[in-house]
Amino acid sequence: MRCSTLPVVTSSEHLTTVGADYDAMAQAYTAFAGEAFAGRPLNHVLVEAFAGLVRQAGGGPVADVGCGPGHVTRYLQDRGVDAFGVDLSPQLVALAREASPGIRFDVGDMGALDVTSGSLAGVLANYSLIHTPPDVLPATLAELSRVLAPGGYLLAAFPALDAAGATAEPWDHKVSPAWRYSLDHVIGLLRQTGVHEVAHMVIAPGEDQVRGFPQAHLLGRKTDDTDRTDRTDRTDRTDR
Ligand SMILES: C[S@@+](CC[C@H](N)C(=O)[O-])C[C@H]1O[C@@H](n2cnc3c(N)ncnc32)[C@H](O)[C@@H]1O
Repeated sequence: MRCSTLPVVTSSEHLTTVGADYDAMAQAYTAFAGEAFAGRPLNHVLVEAFAGLVRQAGGGPVADVGCGPGHVTRYLQDRGVDAFGVDLSPQLVALAREASPGIRFDVGDMGALDVTSGSLAGVLANYSLIHTPPDVLPATLAELSRVLAPGGYLLAAFPALDAAGATAEPWDHKVSPAWRYSLDHVIGLLRQTGVHEVAHMVIAPGEDQVRGFPQAHLLGRKTDDTDRTDRTDRTDRTDR
């Protein structure tokens, strides 16, 4: 991991910090997030594919973890997915319930979901892992894997880190402390939990007008097969 001058947030503090930070910005963030998603058609590509794959596999409940104001949860519902949302911020959850009264939204931590193991057809983490500190990321991804049924899909979108050898780096998110992670690091951590890469898309850094970060969209699938080895050994990859 690189060094940084940004404030250090320990794992014991981050849940309170993130929830309070989004509570304080809930109205403004809701307006921003809805427009941002609607205005980025490339962000829809793997969300559409995720919805299609979940339906094709027979459907079932899907958690949108770190759902914020719930616009992507609704986007999934509109595509025939039985989606519900979970977020740390009570204010955002209240706004999500108001905007989408037919959809279930809970206040909760994606790192400790009140969900039975192996019960979900899918988990979406759309730009919500960004506030998970590096020391908490492995356990958080393990929790997302825990709730997935065998064959269930996980989709995570996050600003990626493309520096060789680095796995995580803090950045100056406007609402709350945030990190970006290398795609290979996230793929490797997920693989340890039994979630294997199905596909990924990386949007070129030049498309991010604000910070110039590549944007990773990673689709994985939970398997029962603990001996599975993926055809490509990601640790040998040098093309990013
Ligand atoms: C950048 S916003 C993304 C919101 C939404 N997914 C979207 O696509 O617009 C990050 C959201 O993740 C939530 N979040 C961060 N860490 C979380 C955690 N551990 N558990 C639940 N929600 C979390 C924040 O409260 C915030 O609403």
